[in-house]
Amino acid sequence: MTNQGAQSGGMARLQLPNKEVELPIVIGTEDEHAIDVTKLRGESGYITLDEGYRNTGSVESKISFIDGEKGILRYRGIPIEQLAEHSTFIETALLLIYGDLPTADHLAQFRDMLIEHENIHEGMRHCFQGFPPTGHPMAILSSMINTLSCYNTDVLRMEEEGTFENAAARLISKIRTVAAAAYRTSSGMPLMYPDPKLAYCKNFLHMMFSLPNRAYEPDPDIVRALSLFLILHADHEQNCSAATVRMVGSSGANLFASCAAGVCALWGPLHGGANVAVIEQLQRIHASGTSIKELIERVKRKEERLFGFGHGVYKNYDPRAHILRDHAPKVLAKLGRQDPLLDIARELEEICLSDDYFISRNLYPNVDFYSGMLLRAMGIPVNMYTVMFAIGRMPGWIAQWKEVHDNQSRIYRPRQVYTGPPLRDYVPVEQRA
Ligand code: CMC
Repeated sequence: MTNQGAQSGGMARLQLPNKEVELPIVIGTEDEHAIDVTKLRGESGYITLDEGYRNTGSVESKISFIDGEKGILRYRGIPIEQLAEHSTFIETALLLIYGDLPTADHLAQFRDMLIEHENIHEGMRHCFQGFPPTGHPMAILSSMINTLSCYNTDVLRMEEEGTFENAAARLISKIRTVAAAAYRTSSGMPLMYPDPKLAYCKNFLHMMFSLPNRAYEPDPDIVRALSLFLILHADHEQNCSAATVRMVGSSGANLFASCAAGVCALWGPLHGGANVAVIEQLQRIHASGTSIKELIERVKRKEERLFGFGHGVYKNYDPRAHILRDHAPKVLAKLGRQDPLLDIARELEEICLSDDYFISRNLYPNVDFYSGMLLRAMGIPVNMYTVMFAIGRMPGWIAQWKEVHDNQSRIYRPRQVYTGPPLRDYVPVEQRA
């Protein structure tokens, strides 16, 4: 892997009312140009204003690369299409975290660590009983990931050799156990212990669907579909949850606490929660008989959003959506099933992609548009969809946290342009109108 930082691209000149400031231009591996404004305030008193950071490179990062115009996604330089076809989730996780595909020895050693740490402390298992059955699995997941900080105090400080890898293995392994337990809690079913004989994806499906008196034996196509789903969700550069993990981690917060914050950021319907919103939207069309055209007209009148469409960075087809669009029908066919929602989704996509509203705004399907089709084929309940996204995203969050930690980054601290009231005096309550 090329390990170079950004290259120098000369200087940019910024003409301010009373002063000209020279700012360095930096160029990334894929020829992305940026103006480094780190010293701008010190030299001129000005800051940059970019609400929501949409035009701001908050970091130099070596983890994943997106070309939103061309619809390209690569993890550590490797195209997502190749990983989807040839890799496994755990191999991809190690690629993201360490920068290179693992050797056979490292992979085997890491898998052993996943087995060693697949259980959660009995005290944590009891915590699940405290949640109401109506509790949302994402709320339970974020609470319990943070609770791991209480039960894994030996890996909170990263100074000792091997501590980071141990903490990373625990998180990747235990999130599966916690996620399945969150589902079982919300459906009033007994929690299953992990089975050390089972590989990562199969073990998760076992904890989700086995009963104390009957082991669940998943179809191999379902296991492979789960692995594919997790690989496609494993990282996506500086999205809302990754940026949150980095922000929290930059304060020195431990890996568990930082990733728990990532789960909360992921929950929203504009981010990971969109996979639930898509299925609910498709289900509404199916159940109510609303025509697709009617929905599109409502979307165009801005009465609702079309979930699973549009993206902050992709102005082209999301490559993950391409893979899922092809794969979901194949899995359904192999299982001998049909899904009416898939037909609705395809028709919706076809109409949108030839409609000027969507064309002129570069709105294409994103990863969430077809991911629910795979999850439905696996029998995953809808309220678990964003939890599934979180299991997949965990290696990415860990890699992002590690980058902050390894670079000994300064605490993340954006500035603001204050637009509130100017200086005024406190008024005692009895004098207020
Ligand atoms: N349906 C209808 N109109 C849309 C949509 C949509 N899904 N997305 C964007 N637009 C319109 C928006 O109303 C605006 O129109 P106008 O120019 O007339 O004001 C224009 O397109 C630009 O939209 P924007 O809000 O500036 O776009 P954004 O880049 O800020 O938002 C987004 C990105 C993903 C939040 C948005 O596209 C959206 O809400 N999509 C639906 C939710 C979704 O699928 N989220 C998953 C994202 S991918 C996975 C992940 O990151 O977790």
